[in-house]
Amino acid sequence: MSITQAAPDVSGLIQTNRVHGSVYTDEALFQVELERIWYRGWVYVGHESEVPQKNDFVMKSIGPQSVIMTRDNTGHIHLLQNRCSHRGNQVCVREQGNARAFTCPYHSWTFSNTGDLIGFAFPDGYRDNPEADKKNLGLGTLPRVASYHGFVFGSFAAEGVSLKEHLGGAAETLDRLVRTSPEGEVEITAGFLKHRAKANWKFILENECDGYHPAFVHSSIFSVADSAIGTYYGDKSTALTRDFGHGHTEVDLRPEFRKADTPMRWFGTTEDRLPDYVAAMKAAYGDDKAREIMIDGTPHVMIFPNLFIAEIQIFVIQPISVDETIQHVTALQFKGAPDLNRRLRQQTMGSVGPAGLLLADDTEMYERNQRGAESLTPQWVFLGRGEQRERRDEDGYVVGHSTDEVPSRGIWRHYAELMGA
Ligand code: FES
Ligand SMILES: [Fe+2]
Repeated sequence: MSITQAAPDVSGLIQTNRVHGSVYTDEALFQVELERIWYRGWVYVGHESEVPQKNDFVMKSIGPQSVIMTRDNTGHIHLLQNRCSHRGNQVCVREQGNARAFTCPYHSWTFSNTGDLIGFAFPDGYRDNPEADKKNLGLGTLPRVASYHGFVFGSFAAEGVSLKEHLGGAAETLDRLVRTSPEGEVEITAGFLKHRAKANWKFILENECDGYHPAFVHSSIFSVADSAIGTYYGDKSTALTRDFGHGHTEVDLRPEFRKADTPMRWFGTTEDRLPDYVAAMKAAYGDDKAREIMIDGTPHVMIFPNLFIAEIQIFVIQPISVDETIQHVTALQFKGAPDLNRRLRQQTMGSVGPAGLLLADDTEMYERNQRGAESLTPQWVFLGRGEQRERRDEDGYVVGHSTDEVPSRGIWRHYAELMGA
């Protein structure tokens, strides 16, 4: 997709602690975001555990585009664009499966799971036509594919920063995540739910590490679940917001969990409820390290622009248009932890399932945000909360109180860089 008009200038729309409301509503800006963020930088696509066997495939997306993640018969992962090189039909319509090849339903051209065109139907019509060279008629593929702890990211740009550089300090949150498994591995095997919101994707991106809203928006689930989590988002909390740079942001609840000094409190349970898991963790890491891991819990981190790890589940943000976004959500599963995994699925259903108590409240806020942003005045969104008490942690990252708008300011700083490029 190319931008034929002059790209909107975002420099007048983004300040350190304010953004102009039109960044959420401007259709032309959305097209530039697709080009400069979604079709250029690293974007999360899927997890290696979703294609465990040779020739497995799963349907994924990058923004509005459909992408097929395949594992070929040598074990390598590929990201293919789901667009036939003949006349553009989608070659794959199944959500997942195992196939060495994809045959387009329209005129039956067949492509290997690495994207190569392997056969025309009724090939006589192409014989002696030099333009019909199979080598030039493969599926589109993403030139760069890289993974970290099995999380597969793709980039449409042939060159750019490495995935490791892109993740920067946020890579440590994924290290923290996988050690929750006695085998050190996450598995994405619980199946996805899709939640559609009539809202711009950036309202969702910002909300994932917004620690100011839970006390109000989520008070019902906190009271029903009799959960201490609400207090971590109160004004006496010692939890932190953190800006890792590159648009990655975190709410770090570890200061509160460490103060409580109780294993599995992050999950709202106790060790005696999960004896098999606790035993497996101690066998894997030793008593002291296992205890430390089970106190610290899993991260709450938003990896720019679309992978949100929300302690017990992951959300993948898919922008569809300027005012429509799908969130794909699944329960995290940890290898070697069947008793924990069962509870992770149950808690995910209770919080973000079809009748879940948590996401419905957020979605109501997203849609109201979008409708509010259509109003002309006041023109700006104010993101100055906690600016005066920001500081740097021992690693040099900006941190603030759990209710401060450190994450939003970090996201917009990075966004302005990408959009000004
Ligand atoms: S569009 Fe795919 S074979 Fe014709
Ligand atoms: Fe929320």
